[in-house]
Amino acid sequence: MDVPFKIDLSGQVAVVTGGTGVIGGMYARALAACGAKVAVLGRSRENGEKVVAEIAADGGEAMAVSANVLDRESLISAREEILAHYGHLNILVNCAGGAVKSAQVPQDYFCEAAEGEDTFFSIDLENVHRELDLNIYGTMLPTQVFGEVLKGQENANIVNISSMSAYHPLTRIPGYSAGKAGVASFTEWCAIYFAKSGIRVNAVAPGFFHTTQNHALQYNEDGTPKPRTQHIVDSTPMGSFGRIEDLVGGFLYLVDPRGSRFVTGTILPIDGGFHIYQGV
Ligand SMILES: NC(=O)c1ccc[n+]([C@@H]2O[C@H](COP(=O)([O-])OP(=O)(O)OC[C@H]3O[C@@H](n4cnc5c(N)ncnc54)[C@H](OP(=O)(O)O)[C@@H]3O)[C@@H](O)[C@H]2O)c1
Repeated sequence: MDVPFKIDLSGQVAVVTGGTGVIGGMYARALAACGAKVAVLGRSRENGEKVVAEIAADGGEAMAVSANVLDRESLISAREEILAHYGHLNILVNCAGGAVKSAQVPQDYFCEAAEGEDTFFSIDLENVHRELDLNIYGTMLPTQVFGEVLKGQENANIVNISSMSAYHPLTRIPGYSAGKAGVASFTEWCAIYFAKSGIRVNAVAPGFFHTTQNHALQYNEDGTPKPRTQHIVDSTPMGSFGRIEDLVGGFLYLVDPRGSRFVTGTILPIDGGFHIYQGV
């Protein structure tokens, strides 16, 4: 892939959870383009193999590993497979996560709902529970399992994925907002906890990008944009959605100790100014 700028990560080994997804796949390709060996982790090894094939076609080196970020044993197996294959591991990117559609509240403000329509009072909190688990526990558990082998490695670092909803909750997605606020808090907690062990911990907070995950929130079934989509553009001082590759430069800055040796506990917004804008 074309990376906006290249850093030299040769000799380094990274694991990207959710590496089979849109953002994780791009981060896996960017790391490999900079010379790192990359383990692409998702529940589906088959999806991982597709990313590995793309990386190989670009001349990079990667392997697919199958694990569920909510299952310790599968993560330990993945870790052992990576260590057996590449010998060490020094970068963890926690990209698995996302919103659960059935945990969304259909309205921005409470009102009497149409017959058959949910409100906050009727959504099944089991779905919110799954959402909190995936985002918070799904970041903590890989940090436990992989973090253990990052200790003592040169350029040991972790990058988590937060969200605009961590700064101020976004309408309709209370569980996801709480989950990503949790990821931001955990990032800061880890940065302190690991500071004296030489492991840096930071996060990227993406603004708005068109991806499969948020498609239903932004577009009607016939492909026309929902009013929410225009509202997002109007609330972004730079006046557009981001391009997915805009997420690469800031990420590589956090990974590369030559740029960010003294940076830990940072949540880096890449958002066209969305999180600072008050609307006036
Ligand atoms: N898209 C956006 O605009 C946006 C904005 C802010 C933050 N984010 C965050 O960025 C991250 C990536 O988002 P994305 O848009 O790239 O999502 P995506 O395309 O849905 O990718 C997520 C990947 O995570 C993997 N995954 C899901 N559950 C898993 C589990 N239990 N164990 C292991 N892997 C699992 C899935 O792969 P398998 O099915 O193979 O397991 C999937 O490929 C998420 O944390 C998301 O919340 C996205």
